[in-house]
Amino acid sequence: MNPVTALRWQDGALHLLDQRRLPAEQTWLRCVSAGEVADAIRAMVVRGAPAIGIAAAYGVVLAARAAFAAAGDGWRAAIEPDLAHLRNARPTAVNLAWALDRMTARFATTSGDPEPALLAQARAIHDQDLAANRAMAAHGAPLIAPGSRVLTHCNTGALATGGHGTALGVIRTAHAQGRIAEVFVDETRPWLQGARLTAWELQQEGIPARLVVDGAAAWLFARLRPAWLIVGADRIAANGDTANKIGTYTAALAARAHGARVMVVAPLSTFDPATPDGAVIEVEERPAQELTQLAGQALAPAGFAAWNPVFDVTPAALIDAIVCEHGVIERPDAARMAAFLEAAGR
Ligand code: MRU
Repeated sequence: MNPVTALRWQDGALHLLDQRRLPAEQTWLRCVSAGEVADAIRAMVVRGAPAIGIAAAYGVVLAARAAFAAAGDGWRAAIEPDLAHLRNARPTAVNLAWALDRMTARFATTSGDPEPALLAQARAIHDQDLAANRAMAAHGAPLIAPGSRVLTHCNTGALATGGHGTALGVIRTAHAQGRIAEVFVDETRPWLQGARLTAWELQQEGIPARLVVDGAAAWLFARLRPAWLIVGADRIAANGDTANKIGTYTAALAARAHGARVMVVAPLSTFDPATPDGAVIEVEERPAQELTQLAGQALAPAGFAAWNPVFDVTPAALIDAIVCEHGVIERPDAARMAAFLEAAGR
């Protein structure tokens, strides 16, 4: 069992490991209202598509508790503002809306105090994500030849999920099977999820790894020949186009140019069959200060403008394999994605 955990339900509250303070400090934030959970998601206390969805599910439990206390049997109407607040916390990771939809689907079959039934549902979402990660690792690791170097981008480990991880889960399991010679970790500007979170997780497990700047991708594939780029996803469109942390598309282009392969690892909760292709995925843009300042220090002239999209969309044509808990979709396109999802019962 992986000891790293991003969130836990304890004493009737949601406790979030404050990922903004890692790796220097391990500080936990206690959330007792849906508003606090939504604010924590927006502020990046908890991040990573599956972890955001799980946090939002527990946020619904807190919202239902408050709505039932205030309105009794009228709680379903009273909860609406909190649901909207959670839904709008971040736009790109579809796991957030997916988790909220699963929680609200339980409303109709709940009578009396809704908290016990909704807490059971949130725990099920949490547990199922961990199980999905283990299944994805079992499907993805065999794609990697023994002794391979790989590159990963952002953080996709236990901190970003219900545990074990998506892309990092595959890497963890592949390492245990002797398939990984070395992991290259993109820093992942501007929040540095690679340097601060992925490096921390890899170091705790003693997996050999080196940090690289995001701009090194092409030179890395040219010189040190990683066999795979392995990444997670925030939303996968019906044709396989994949939204993930900004810099993923650049790394995928570099991999393709040098004959390396690209693996996307994501649970079905990240698939969005209602979105036909990547052109219509909403990409979150965050404040310019995230680029122009670092820990309060100026990195650019005061007032300098910046464009700060925090995700990009890698076209399906650059992806060799999408791994989910039901198996592997090789060379994804709209037809293969649809056939796979139908076989998986989605
Ligand atoms: O802005 P973040 O840190 O929430 O972005 C996270 C990513 O882009 C991850 O790669 C993605 O959510 C997959 S996590 C398993």
